[in-house]
Amino acid sequence: MQRRDFFKTLTLATASFALAACPASSVPPEAGVSIRPGQVWRDTDGAPINAHSGCVIFQEGVYYWFGVHCVEGDAGNSAQVGVRAYSSRDLVTWKNEGVVLAVSEDPRSPIARDCLLERPKVIYNESTRRYVMWFHLEPKGQGYRGAQSAVAVAEHPAGPYRFVASFRPDAGTWPVNTPKALQKELNAEEARRLGRIHFIGGEVPDYPGDLIFRRDFRGGQMARDMTLFVDDDQRAYQVYASEENGTLHVSLLSDDYLRSAGKYARVLPGGFNEAPAVFKHGGRYWMVTSGCTGWAPNAARLAVADSIWGPWRQVGNPWIGEERDTESSFGTQSSSFLQTSRPDLVVYLADRWHPENPIEARYVWLPVDFREDGRPYLRWRDAWDPRTPLKPAP
Ligand code: DGJ
Repeated sequence: MQRRDFFKTLTLATASFALAACPASSVPPEAGVSIRPGQVWRDTDGAPINAHSGCVIFQEGVYYWFGVHCVEGDAGNSAQVGVRAYSSRDLVTWKNEGVVLAVSEDPRSPIARDCLLERPKVIYNESTRRYVMWFHLEPKGQGYRGAQSAVAVAEHPAGPYRFVASFRPDAGTWPVNTPKALQKELNAEEARRLGRIHFIGGEVPDYPGDLIFRRDFRGGQMARDMTLFVDDDQRAYQVYASEENGTLHVSLLSDDYLRSAGKYARVLPGGFNEAPAVFKHGGRYWMVTSGCTGWAPNAARLAVADSIWGPWRQVGNPWIGEERDTESSFGTQSSSFLQTSRPDLVVYLADRWHPENPIEARYVWLPVDFREDGRPYLRWRDAWDPRTPLKPAP
């Protein structure tokens, strides 16, 4: 099944991805150079940057931007190249570091060309001194039915990354926040009931909230849109859209970050959130998600929690602006947040998708506004420069 068939009931439309922010920099701003959300962004060779649905990390004075390399046309809706990286000292000018994880020419490989490889995220493990990449993987030719997590590892931030494994996470463990009464596999009647439902990647009537994670207990939980988050104590988590996209999971990683540790919580069950992006600010955990409308943009949702394990509480749409813009999140879908060494500077990194010609997807990077209520807000800026103090929101 092709990805378009799988999501045929969802509207395909363009969306956009924005993110930006950076720590204090000693680099003087060049006149006229800034981040321009939604515009073509060129690397230091003059080529448009090609790194979608990814993330930015900061290592020893250098930012590394990782994202999926998209090609033109319908082929661009599956992985033809792999994950590309760029480096920068100022978040504005980016040098192409090449393809750091390439798709395989071996059709038996889990990351064979034509698989679906989405949302690569990289974190640094201080104990092993390795860079660990996780991404959403759909094996070639299975549409979105695979719903797997995949892991690759490198000795250096700019790779090369070596594919380690792909799997459905958290097999054989019950969620920490689920009553004992639900910690049992499905009986025959429940399995039949679930088998009659046609899941479409988005909302379905009578979503069977407590059945899907039980169905997937043995084989592992479905994992589609995802992000990684490293807490102050260096524990790392994968947050992934699970249970036919209806429920998010927060899942602890092993100490080496190479696999799930076998401890997870269900978050916002039945909420149909995807594109999770998490950061910590003011001692609280914040998560922006989108609704489930395929590549078409929708109104972002903001959630907050005092613990990464929850409970998570949704607190509305983080966007400020005219309703016609906020209801589509200015055409963007969240990918990740960049937390910088400046507590006031957290950057929203998002995509503005073009599924008809994926290479035309744009990046929308915007600084998060923190207001007196302590809550993060997003608002549009045509241009901004992370190397200069941010002007307060009007
Ligand atoms: C929405 C997700 O957020 C994207 O990453 C992608 O999987 C599309 N769905 C596919 O329709």
